[in-house]
Amino acid sequence: MEYYLETQQIDISQLNINNDAILVLVSFIIFKIYQKTRVPEGLKNVPTLSFLVLLTEIYNKVGPDKRWEDIRDILEKEGIGKLWFNGEWTLTVTDLGLVKDIITKTDLYPKSLLGESFPGNLVTQYYGDNVVFSNGDVWKRHRRIANPSFRNIPVHVFVESAIKLLNVMEKVDNEPIEIRNLMHGLTLDVLGKAAFGFDFNNLEDPKNVYVTAYNDVMEELSKPIYYLISFLEHIVPRTEAIRKIAKLNSLYDEMVEKKMKSMKTGEIDEKINNNSADLLEHMVHACNDPENPTLTSEELRHDLAIFMLAGHDTTANALSTILYLLAIHKDVQKKVRDEILRVLGDDLTPNSEQQKELKYMNMVINENLRLYPPVANLPRRTPSKDIKFRNHVIPAKTPIIINIYGIHHSSKNWENPEKFIPERFENEKHDHYAWLSFGGGNRLCLGINFSLIEQRIMLCSLLRKYEVSLPADSIHKDKLQIAPEGSGTMGPHPLPLIFKRRTE
Ligand code: HEM
Ligand SMILES: *[C@@H]1O[C@H](CO)[C@@H](O)[C@H](O)[C@H]1NC(C)=O
Ligand SMILES: *[C@@H]1O[C@H](CO)[C@@H](O)[C@H](O)[C@H]1NC(C)=O
Repeated sequence: MEYYLETQQIDISQLNINNDAILVLVSFIIFKIYQKTRVPEGLKNVPTLSFLVLLTEIYNKVGPDKRWEDIRDILEKEGIGKLWFNGEWTLTVTDLGLVKDIITKTDLYPKSLLGESFPGNLVTQYYGDNVVFSNGDVWKRHRRIANPSFRNIPVHVFVESAIKLLNVMEKVDNEPIEIRNLMHGLTLDVLGKAAFGFDFNNLEDPKNVYVTAYNDVMEELSKPIYYLISFLEHIVPRTEAIRKIAKLNSLYDEMVEKKMKSMKTGEIDEKINNNSADLLEHMVHACNDPENPTLTSEELRHDLAIFMLAGHDTTANALSTILYLLAIHKDVQKKVRDEILRVLGDDLTPNSEQQKELKYMNMVINENLRLYPPVANLPRRTPSKDIKFRNHVIPAKTPIIINIYGIHHSSKNWENPEKFIPERFENEKHDHYAWLSFGGGNRLCLGINFSLIEQRIMLCSLLRKYEVSLPADSIHKDKLQIAPEGSGTMGPHPLPLIFKRRTE
């Protein structure tokens, strides 16, 4: 669990051997309850997605791609399926009409909140109310404060990190290098600096104390058992986890306090004027505006915690999969590189005009996000009223998950959906809601431009200097091996790639 906490299916997929016995036992009990569970009248005709198939998938640790294979027939035909899990009937949706309704009517379909699913749990305390997990007025307040900070994209941070990345590459010329972890290190560095001006320095020193503190907390918070049986931690206190979280929180608190001080001295105003303020500085600044209701220090910390999560895994996975696609499609790689050289000339990184001119690269980025959407399932929504959909009635409070992976891979929405065809974004007409990598409506990803610019800058730096290829013995030779969404985002298993320095 991390980013988007959508189905517990995913969260428990990381169970280790010791926990498997518990899983089997719990599953058996759940199945017994399931057999006795009555389906709400209005959902009687919604096709059922097999609970036992789901358990098999969890047991086999499959990713969203295999999951889609198993439910594809039903969802392509009906656009909706119901699944019993964690004590309730949950809906999975791919019908674009219903999807549009859910995404555009946020009052009718609020997000389900952490505190509702995991009352009093560590995960709820750590993330609190924040701009990702909140609704209504609370969300508006967070979003209004966060908005201005995302208007100024910290390009200099991307460039500095790109240079460090090239230094790492320099040392391993023409040898396989594991890209997935490297990209996670890179994007964590970027987020730390962009969000609060802090250098995790993962790329140069992956074992440093703050990186460890962050990774420890992520590991603690993704332990599946506490989602499966969330009351467990109320019985046996998780002292170790509490200690680790306190450590990371004190870093965040320190940052917030520091920024509050520099607000008073006028330093933040100067930084905003000379365009060097980070996200937190922009937010502290916006909080001081008498027109806007202010966020408390604690709320600011919760937003930082969620930015770190929302902004780092997602972009890291996107960069990993796009490098894989370029490695196995040499013709596309050449075309992207030719475009970079043509548009950038001697410039090392693209300015915003040049980024628009990188038309082919932008298509490749879109196609990568279509094939491998880092957020494969949108976090659950629970309708505030009964919803009529075709001949069904979805009772209020029924959790609904939009299956982005399925929508992106459905032959109803895309020609040859499994094929990598960047040109489709030039030629093919597709439904507006058939491409949902960043969500949509007023809950559209706040970091969309941040992430896209970060991706373009990294690709420009890497492709200009290196030729990327897949090692002959790669486990991804026939097909990208996708990991279970254990961390809440979808990404590959470890992915060694070869970067060979280009001559000329
Ligand atoms: C490839 C990279 C990324 C992907 C695929 C992605 C995907 C998404 C998606 C699908 C949502 C909608 C969630 C929902 O409707 O429930 C979302 C929301 C959000 N994302 Fe991203 N994201 C990415 C990068 C980033 C970055 C870099 C940041 C920040 C630095 C960020 C911050 C946010 C925030 C704050 C929200 C909540 C917006 C709101 O509810 O008002 N994301 N993202
Ligand atoms: C911007 O202003 C801040 C605060 O006065 C200063 O520390 C920083 O060096 C300035 N940066 C640039 C690029 O001028
Ligand atoms: C992203 O940038 C485009 C133009 O470059 C702008 O129109 C759009 O509002 C930005 N989106 C967000 C969410 O900041």
